[in-house]
Amino acid sequence: MSANGSFEAMRPRDAQRAVSPAAASFALSIRSADFGDSPSLASLMGQLGYPTREEEMTARLEGLLPREDHLVAVAVLEGRVAGVVAAAVGVCLEKNGRRGRVTALIVTENLRGRGIGAHLLGHAESWLRARGAAACTVNTSTRRARAHRFYEREGYRVTGLRFEKSLD
Ligand SMILES: CC(C)(COP(=O)(O)OP(=O)(O)OC[C@H]1O[C@@H](n2cnc3c(N)ncnc32)[C@H](O)[C@@H]1OP(=O)(O)O)[C@@H](O)C(=O)NCCC(=O)NCCS
Repeated sequence: MSANGSFEAMRPRDAQRAVSPAAASFALSIRSADFGDSPSLASLMGQLGYPTREEEMTARLEGLLPREDHLVAVAVLEGRVAGVVAAAVGVCLEKNGRRGRVTALIVTENLRGRGIGAHLLGHAESWLRARGAAACTVNTSTRRARAHRFYEREGYRVTGLRFEKSLD
């Protein structure tokens, strides 16, 4: 099913996930984002369909980077940012324990299909698991059919719909 909705991880995955031959053939590192990443992250948001100016991204990072319940991590390939993942951990009213959410995942357009997205997602899952999250959810738009396939391949299943209403 590739309907609009929330994806939830079906099972815990090992922090050390399988590395595809394509991914293994280049040196990829993942580190916490910092303010110097603002231009790259603004560009990635544009690729996701959310045009963002550098100063807007800096303001968002000012809100997110100090928070211990939020992760913003970047994948670096040959010294350049190749992708980003953001995640949050927290409690909710309807279930016990802590729950995780992946709030953003983007790989640079010309570097997709090489395993970078899987590595970033695995990094976020490990970060969430280390903070006691029992499950991970991700929201994605109806139109992102390829991302739906990606999440399903990574062990997520569709569990619901997302509704949105502008409050402007
Ligand atoms: C979804 C996304 C993060 C996956 O990252 P990635 O580095 O391409 O992922 P991987 O290489 O680990 O896996 C690729 C798989 O994801 C799927 N995929 C999704 N979008 C893809 C794209 N643009 N190019 C290639 N594969 C894509 C394919 O089914 C592919 O499967 P395959 O390897 O069996 O062919 C990345 O394609 C992306 O940034 N897409 C645009 C932004 C987006 O939709 N983000 C999710 C919003 S919640």
